[in-house]
Amino acid sequence: MPNSLLIKKEIKEFDKVISVSGDKSISIRWVLFASLASGVSKAQNLLISEDVMAAINAVRKLGVKVILKDKFCKIHGNGFNGFNYRKNLTINAENSGTLGRLILGLLVNTDKPISLKGDKSLSKRDFRRVSDPLSKFGAAFKLNNNKNLPLTIIGSKNLKPIKYLEKKGSAQCKSSIIFAGLRTNGTTIIKAKKSRNHTELMCKYLRLPITVKNNKNYDLIKVKKVKKINPINYKIPSDISSSAFFIVLVALSKNSKLLIKNVNINPSRVGIITILKRMGVNVKFKNKKNYKGEIIADIFVRSAKKIKAINCPSKLNSGAIDEFLIIFLVAAKAHGTSYFKDIGELNQKESPRLKWGSKILNKMGIKTITTDSSIKIFGDPNLKINKKIVIKDYLKDHRVFMTSVIAGLTFGGTWNIHNKDSIKTSFPTFLNIINDLKK
Ligand code: S3P
Repeated sequence: MPNSLLIKKEIKEFDKVISVSGDKSISIRWVLFASLASGVSKAQNLLISEDVMAAINAVRKLGVKVILKDKFCKIHGNGFNGFNYRKNLTINAENSGTLGRLILGLLVNTDKPISLKGDKSLSKRDFRRVSDPLSKFGAAFKLNNNKNLPLTIIGSKNLKPIKYLEKKGSAQCKSSIIFAGLRTNGTTIIKAKKSRNHTELMCKYLRLPITVKNNKNYDLIKVKKVKKINPINYKIPSDISSSAFFIVLVALSKNSKLLIKNVNINPSRVGIITILKRMGVNVKFKNKKNYKGEIIADIFVRSAKKIKAINCPSKLNSGAIDEFLIIFLVAAKAHGTSYFKDIGELNQKESPRLKWGSKILNKMGIKTITTDSSIKIFGDPNLKINKKIVIKDYLKDHRVFMTSVIAGLTFGGTWNIHNKDSIKTSFPTFLNIINDLKK
């Protein structure tokens, strides 16, 4: 079977109800917390994707028993200090920055060196952003090129709490330090630029010794040592980052409506909704409820009549950090020029996404002006593509693939999108849902 997808036709109008798969950030965090618990934790609707399987395989290698049956998972934690593994262990985080960075926080007090490796994309990404602060606790690191994977971590039994200033708005860095703080005597103090807060919410739900003070631009987090974590049963809500592709598909299609069930709408994740509303897209939350500190709702969206350009305020960036590629497509159809700034972090993702965002738009015939940290998009509300577009060599970044699919289904043209397998990292059922919408 060829590993590329050919799209030749725009999608016809539709009016449907769908469910997307479980939240990736929460699925990975659940696996990690459950691996530290004393006793059996159960999850329903776990995301079954390569990133989450990498997390499951990692904790299995650390001696933790995991039973997986469809989307139901049981993890038999051996307790907070219960990892049990052989010498010269290597953990493979594959494509997952979240797993690679968070797990290092769990490993700061290990007694045998552990190596961490990843795929080609992850091996290009910066790990100094976590190894530097984790070294201050007392763990030692050897990194490839002084900043990349593969790396080796050598834990310490004599960890010291740190004061850490997290300036990038990276939830992965913040979470890694929280995990390390939970292992350390004394109080670790983190001043973090706003980013997704699932780790803090799980800690709070588990009644772990952590306090969070939300200030306007940053959060002040204090973490103390924990002795025991209780098992955590969790029904994983659907992922807003996976929903985003369908929200934009509807927004850019004609006469269509969609209801996406049970999505996590944690305020630190809904930047895309705020941005799209400002651009004139009709999107609403229905049936909001609180689940273990997270907020869940159904998302209703209908086709946009007129899309407005946006000068996107930087304060919305962190809540939309994984959604910019798909938001850029909306800007491509806007009346006027949109501007997104302070988004240099996009080039630190699975692929250099700011570059890829402008590359896709340029292939479509949309003019952009891109710097290392910003993009201006000259929208064309009447754009109809009449040529062949090939998307390849993008480090198998799942979000580049899915964005290209949505572009092909809404702007026309013939699209040949390579590496269909890339969706397996975060959203293996993406194309099945697209096919259901076409029926
Ligand atoms: C994630 C944090 C974000 C995001 C990633 C998932 C997480 O990365 O882009 O997809 O689950 O903590 P950064 O921490 O690098 O911003």
